Amino acid sequence: MPENLQISDTYSLHRGAKIPRLGFGCYLIPDGKETLQAVNTALEAGYRHFDTAAFYGNEASLGKAVRESGIPREKIFVTTKLWNSDHGYEKALRAFDTSMEKLQLDYLDLYLIHWPVPGKRRDSWKALEKLQAEGRVRSIGVSNYMEPHLRELMAHAESAPSINQIELSPYNFLRRQREIEFCRKNKIHIQAYCPLTRGEKLGDPELEKLGRKYGKSPAQILLRWSLDQGFIPLPKSGNPQRIRENANLYDFQILPEDLAWLSNQNENLAVSWDPSGAP
Ligand SMILES: NC(=O)c1ccc[n+]([C@@H]2O[C@H](COP(=O)([O-])OP(=O)(O)OC[C@H]3O[C@@H](n4cnc5c(N)ncnc54)[C@H](OP(=O)(O)O)[C@@H]3O)[C@@H](O)[C@H]2O)c1
Repeated sequence: MPENLQISDTYSLHRGAKIPRLGFGCYLIPDGKETLQAVNTALEAGYRHFDTAAFYGNEASLGKAVRESGIPREKIFVTTKLWNSDHGYEKALRAFDTSMEKLQLDYLDLYLIHWPVPGKRRDSWKALEKLQAEGRVRSIGVSNYMEPHLRELMAHAESAPSINQIELSPYNFLRRQREIEFCRKNKIHIQAYCPLTRGEKLGDPELEKLGRKYGKSPAQILLRWSLDQGFIPLPKSGNPQRIRENANLYDFQILPEDLAWLSNQNENLAVSWDPSGAP
């Protein structure tokens, strides 16, 4: 609930690694100068946590921006993800190598299973555990895992996931209570993807009104709500002004009654792929 936060705040993951509480989403930013510029702008604005995936096709530029930033490697947190067609023990190990060749980093901070592909996800998890044991990745986790997937994983995992990355905003918060409760109970931190609803709700008159009350934009209200829930939001923008806007979240606090109002705006929104009911 409301607390004094700073952009440098972190959470501790299972093995002691620290993850910045604000991340930067890299989906749909083209590889090359767009990603380089976006990541450089984000670093200048104070972001120290970047989320990409093999599927996004921009690992090479993210890695280059991190290497050339002049910021010590250990001060930046980098995530990438195993794509659906790369599941299975051996295939996952090879996919990790491919991602690291693109990133050109000595180690990865977080490797996630992008989607709970049926029949193969258990073998893939074993591969992630091996990579973590070897120190090639500091933390491992999952994405789009619903409560039954998490229970299955916890039943066979030697190493529990540090993270579950799912779509979360006030417009689907109540729908994800089972996942949130399970993760909290098992000390799995939640990364909130599509925290800005891909723009879909940013013109909502009620949200705009709340923004005016605090002198903040609708995007900033959604992100501050996410931080105050204890989630790790991953806003994406390719626009320098909006990249800075989305990091300017630390000079105000949303009152408890307004946080509660936001939390009750559920409309089962899914602006990305929806893992509800995935086998
Ligand atoms: N694990 C998964 O399956 C999964 C799925 C989806 C997303 N993700 C991750 O989560 C990240 C965020 O999700 P997302 O990129 O889908 O959606 P999002 O962050 O909710 O929204 C991004 C959209 O909002 C616009 N935007 C950003 N800041 C804004 C602002 N202040 N005011 C108005 N519009 C703004 C962006 O346009 P501009 O770029 O033009 O500013 C873009 O169109 C992704 O980049 C990715 O890293 C993961």
